[in-house]
Amino acid sequence: MEIVLSGIRSTGHLHLGNYYGALRNYIKMQDKYNCYFFIADLHSLTTHPHPDDFHAGVRTILAEYLASGLDPEKSAIFVQSDVPEITELYVLLNMIAYKGELERTTSFKDKVRQNPENVNAGLLTYPVLMAADILIHRANLVPVGKDQEQHLEVARLLARRFNTLYNAEVFPEPQAFNFGSDLIKVPGLDGSGKMGKSEGNGVYLFDDEKTIRKKVMKAVTDSGPTEPGSPMSESVQNLFTLLKIVSDTATVDHFTKSYNDCSIRYGDLKKQLAEDICKQTLPIKARIEEIYKDEAYLQTVVKRGTEMARESAQATMKEVKKAVGFKSFLKSDDQ
Ligand code: ADP
Ligand code: TRP
Repeated sequence: MEIVLSGIRSTGHLHLGNYYGALRNYIKMQDKYNCYFFIADLHSLTTHPHPDDFHAGVRTILAEYLASGLDPEKSAIFVQSDVPEITELYVLLNMIAYKGELERTTSFKDKVRQNPENVNAGLLTYPVLMAADILIHRANLVPVGKDQEQHLEVARLLARRFNTLYNAEVFPEPQAFNFGSDLIKVPGLDGSGKMGKSEGNGVYLFDDEKTIRKKVMKAVTDSGPTEPGSPMSESVQNLFTLLKIVSDTATVDHFTKSYNDCSIRYGDLKKQLAEDICKQTLPIKARIEEIYKDEAYLQTVVKRGTEMARESAQATMKEVKKAVGFKSFLKSDDQ
């Protein structure tokens, strides 16, 4: 059975980008594949070195995963820092990852631009840690949003390089996955760019109805089409992209038609969009609140998930060490 792995950083509540770009696919994949889903708490430290409450961040994502439909009976759900084999593999992969190629990744260049006073080595080697997350389970499929495409390329490059250098077929080449479709980018409501936790433009699974309506009604638009077939501005295109993600085809067709014949009222479009977002997210919000409180349940989930993840990770590290020719100098009792 093919192996699936993906994760999200513990840097705040999950937004529609995380949900439609990644999490919804995790849920759909659970029945068909051997799945590992985790919380990337170590990756969070590259941009959030002083988390106010590290545990609360992890617990938030865990509760939001479960409330969205991740099923601990079907998937291994765990926290990255509970699986030390990941960092062990990360160290080895760092030896075959080159500074020049890491400096060229868009995410690194973006982070340097956004935060020039915190260009730490962890930020540079972020894709190497991500490759370790994936390769430690010898995963084939990685459900992610479009922004992660380049990181998957690095993971494939390192898998290939490792296999060639050590002349062993230890790692498969992992592929980004979205059920045969292109990877998606959920736009923000501020006119341009993607929705993101650090962009401050998100609609969160945890938002209440009033907040969602307020955010959507405030979305940037333009002064409206002036003649039939006018091209759409980026901000209006973004609203349509969101509508296509959360609403049914009849609704999308209705507003497309009214845009094209210039009768559209953006207020109506936003009202409908807010309503359709609420329909999808409010039931999840109710479950988040329940699950977040249930410490015993959260512990059971993570205990089971960590055991499964470590078993798989240890089996891979055995192969890795054999390939590299590593043996502990220290003799074990049975040697
Ligand atoms: P963020 O970018 O909000 O900090 P993460 O980096 O932890 O969140 O992203 C976790 C997952 O969510 C990744 O698979 C990423 O591709 C996906 N994702 C994040 N934002 C979007 C978006 N706007 N559209 C599509 N997918 C997204
Ligand atoms: N880098 C991903 C992001 O920012 C999160 C992540 C870390 C990840 N490790 C991963 C995603 C492994 C998929 C597989 O969105």
